[in-house]
Amino acid sequence: MALREIREMGEACLSKNCKEVKEMTDRLRILIEDMIETMHAAEGVGLAAPQVGILRRLVVIDVSEEGDSPIIMINPVLEETRGEQTGPEGCLSVPGKTGIVTRPEYAKASALDINMKPIIVEGEGLLARAICHELDHLDGHLYTELVEGPLMTNEEFAQYMNDLEAEEDEEE
Ligand code: NI
Repeated sequence: MALREIREMGEACLSKNCKEVKEMTDRLRILIEDMIETMHAAEGVGLAAPQVGILRRLVVIDVSEEGDSPIIMINPVLEETRGEQTGPEGCLSVPGKTGIVTRPEYAKASALDINMKPIIVEGEGLLARAICHELDHLDGHLYTELVEGPLMTNEEFAQYMNDLEAEEDEEE
């Protein structure tokens, strides 16, 4: 296994439409292992193949606190969404930045697993956000296109959260 270089906003691979995976190969298995390792090393909750320069419809997601439950989704298709959540979002391809993005509260996607067997991945909250965010990557879209208000640095985001808490305290 090896860490892959994470491509950053502005690089062409992040704005391309990715191609479907037709069959599982040894190369793809290695790519998937590397993507999971790269995601965990970077402390991300998801990584799409174009973020490591591979224009294939393949994402990995792990929203577990232990970082031990990676989900592999090949050729994923968003099947259903419900509700709405508005909150902070970031991307390993946009390092050091956070933006407020509204996403569905619930999302369900169909995909293939590493053995090219059909699976359903569904979830609420962070998992729903991650599913939508990662699938967007496969169509060349970044969350920065959806940000409400400014794209914040980590310091600005910490200040934003402080202000939000102060506001909530006042309301109580
Ligand atoms: Ni991302």
